[in-house]
Amino acid sequence: MDPIPRRLRRLRRSASLRGLVQENHLALTDLIQPLFVTAGESQEIPSMPGCQRLSPHDLDAKITELRDLGIPAVALFPAIDDDLKNPTGTESTNPDGLLQQTIARIKAIAPGITVITDVALDPYSSDGHDGFVNDNGEIENDITLELLGKMAVAQAEAGADMVAPSDMMDGRVAHLRKVLDEAGHQEVSILAYSAKYASAFYGPFRDALDSAPRGGDKKTYQMNPANLREAIQEVELDIAEGADVAMVKPGLPYLDVLRALKDTFDIPLAAYHVSGEYAMVKAGAEKGWIDERAVVLESLLAFKRAGADMILTYFAEDVAGWLRESASP
Ligand code: PBG
Repeated sequence: MDPIPRRLRRLRRSASLRGLVQENHLALTDLIQPLFVTAGESQEIPSMPGCQRLSPHDLDAKITELRDLGIPAVALFPAIDDDLKNPTGTESTNPDGLLQQTIARIKAIAPGITVITDVALDPYSSDGHDGFVNDNGEIENDITLELLGKMAVAQAEAGADMVAPSDMMDGRVAHLRKVLDEAGHQEVSILAYSAKYASAFYGPFRDALDSAPRGGDKKTYQMNPANLREAIQEVELDIAEGADVAMVKPGLPYLDVLRALKDTFDIPLAAYHVSGEYAMVKAGAEKGWIDERAVVLESLLAFKRAGADMILTYFAEDVAGWLRESASP
């Protein structure tokens, strides 16, 4: 029998050898913790065990913990009272509104944490859509841009470091860049949810914010899960319009999209490990069918391998703790 030409198992013999040839690494500096906030008492989110809508008091404690763990960034999502919702989402621009107050609280406790804010109407909209719904039930692109521009400026005024349009209206990045610059916020960056698919994996998030569409679905603005070329066009446009970072969402089912974008563009890429993905891991672990920690660390490493520079994950805080444990002797 001919000798085996190469023996790849030679470099897998020990943990130290495996470490030397490891191609991708997950680091604390990659992690963004999404947080839900409420003006009232903290509430559990049944479909997202371990996550809560945080009261202002509990938010302060959470931010202190995240700061001490070294989490670099948070992405904020406000759960707005129903009686503050209306068709144009006016509460989103209230300088004393929940989100704006939350940004200020975080900056007071942990000025070094990057605060990322969501730009879309759905948390504030009585229709539960990311854009303005007209009398025919259609989402009006250009009217929505005006509303989103005002929202982003209000967030920047309150101290947001990075605004993250998740609405999928055409032309939103260019519009946000323009109005932010006009308002003197040239330093505020834009994380564009560029390849955001119309996904069933967002279900638990909509429970968390009580933001499910009251009618219809989001398929006229979010992308068709069947499409890849279109994701490349979306990112191309967002870069041309001034995006600083582009995102793919959801996460694991769309790693091919992430890889294609990484091979095509030089812009930093974010991946969103979304609520439905979180819920599946939690449910499997609760049943004792999978090892939560191992599955999460493997999943996040897969994002890195596929080309993510940063990852939004509800597991960020846990992962920071696990990385710290594995780093200590
Ligand atoms: C809405 C928004 C959604 C998420 C982030 N921003 C839901 C949606 O588009 O319906 C989902 C995040 C998650 O599922 O974790 N602007």
